[in-house]
Amino acid sequence: MLRAVADDDAYANLLLPTRLRRARLVGTDAAFATELTYGTLRRRGHYDRIIEHAAGRTVEAIDPVALDVLRLGAHQLLGMSTPAHAAVSETVELTRRARAARTTGFVNAVLRTISRDDDATWTARLLEGVTDATERAAIEHAHPAWLVQALRAALAREDRERELEALLIADNVAPRVTLVALPGLSEPGELGDRTLYSPVGAPSAAGDPAANPDVAAGRARVQDEGSQLAALALSRARPVATGERWLDLCAGPGGKAALLAAEARAAGAALTANEVVPARAELVRRALQAVDPTIEVRVGDGRDIGALEPNSYDRILLDAPCTGLGALRRRPEARWRKTADDVAPLATLQGELLRSALTALKPGGVLAYVTCSPHPDETTAIVDALLTERPHDVAPLDTRAVLASITRTPLDLGDLAHGAAQLWPHRHSTDAMFIQLLTRRSSL
Ligand SMILES: C[S@@+](CC[C@H](N)C(=O)[O-])C[C@H]1O[C@@H](n2cnc3c(N)ncnc32)[C@H](O)[C@@H]1O
Repeated sequence: MLRAVADDDAYANLLLPTRLRRARLVGTDAAFATELTYGTLRRRGHYDRIIEHAAGRTVEAIDPVALDVLRLGAHQLLGMSTPAHAAVSETVELTRRARAARTTGFVNAVLRTISRDDDATWTARLLEGVTDATERAAIEHAHPAWLVQALRAALAREDRERELEALLIADNVAPRVTLVALPGLSEPGELGDRTLYSPVGAPSAAGDPAANPDVAAGRARVQDEGSQLAALALSRARPVATGERWLDLCAGPGGKAALLAAEARAAGAALTANEVVPARAELVRRALQAVDPTIEVRVGDGRDIGALEPNSYDRILLDAPCTGLGALRRRPEARWRKTADDVAPLATLQGELLRSALTALKPGGVLAYVTCSPHPDETTAIVDALLTERPHDVAPLDTRAVLASITRTPLDLGDLAHGAAQLWPHRHSTDAMFIQLLTRRSSL
């Protein structure tokens, strides 16, 4: 798994279930393998600092396979309750099997050094002489420093920087799996408990969610509660007139499209889905199969839709391609893979998609700008730029008021500009979704 993530840019959360099945791991063995994989990936940068300290050389100077083996060993020694002798001997044995036999002596020595202290002692050692608050938080909570800075800036928009530590801690805890009961196809009450906020959500029972008959039949799906609220903010922003046309502009892999399709069907609206990557458009088709197989799924660049279909849609979801920094809980490798340089090109694309979506919207229509990132440059700044550029054409809608009319329990939302809503893992146990509803005032 570690090699696949490093060499093939694999996503651990997508690949792991297949690997577990192939290795026929179930029960406690599957749980152990999952914790070993996710924990090692999530705390990779933290373990790398410790390995460098213990090995007396930089990670770049260590054979990549031996380094992965060391990371696995470090997580067992410092992040799991594996007995030290078992962690060391199994990891050294793995060095042989992983075709890094010539490094066995080195791996053995480094692991023995690491095993002499616990994680708190190692962390204290790494913190020695570090005075900068961002650097300290980065070391203590296994986040890259640039990301700590970005998250602090995101919380500062709400004057809630004091929540930074709680957020960093929440990023390191695997989220509880939630299901969405697709309206008209299943009821959340039939799935078990209810979610706190989403009126169509239910926490998944322990074990494989696919074992749930509603999930197996496509009447319910695994979906973060924040994603459910983002889709509902659009579909329930105001009453639906029969015959409304809806567009999901960046629909792949189709989670929100499935919920929007169910909402559209119940209200007599017609949904179109668009996605630029053909393989992901296919995933959207599959996601819509159980809800409404007649929905049109197009492959196209969302930036062209405005010119191709101006003034055409009553509601548009722009769930924009983004850094995904709001979903670090479920993408363990993401924080070490992304860099600060990833943000600017995405922000440019987000702005272009937003302008195209606005042109495709009918005057008076509703547009939801959504990201699963709280980064200010991908969220508030994108909306601010549009509102500044086109004050006569576009107006913000009070997204927080819309969500207040939807959720089962009131959300504790910060006071962001333009009535925008920012959800948070530490405050709401959701991904950090940003949602801004907008309306178009006139012909552009
Ligand atoms: C955040 S994801 C959407 C998630 C989806 N709404 C869901 O709930 O399953 C963004 C999607 O936008 C697609 N995308 C990226 N650039 C695009 C473009 N120029 N036009 C249309 N889609 C684009 C990506 O391939 C990706 O599937």
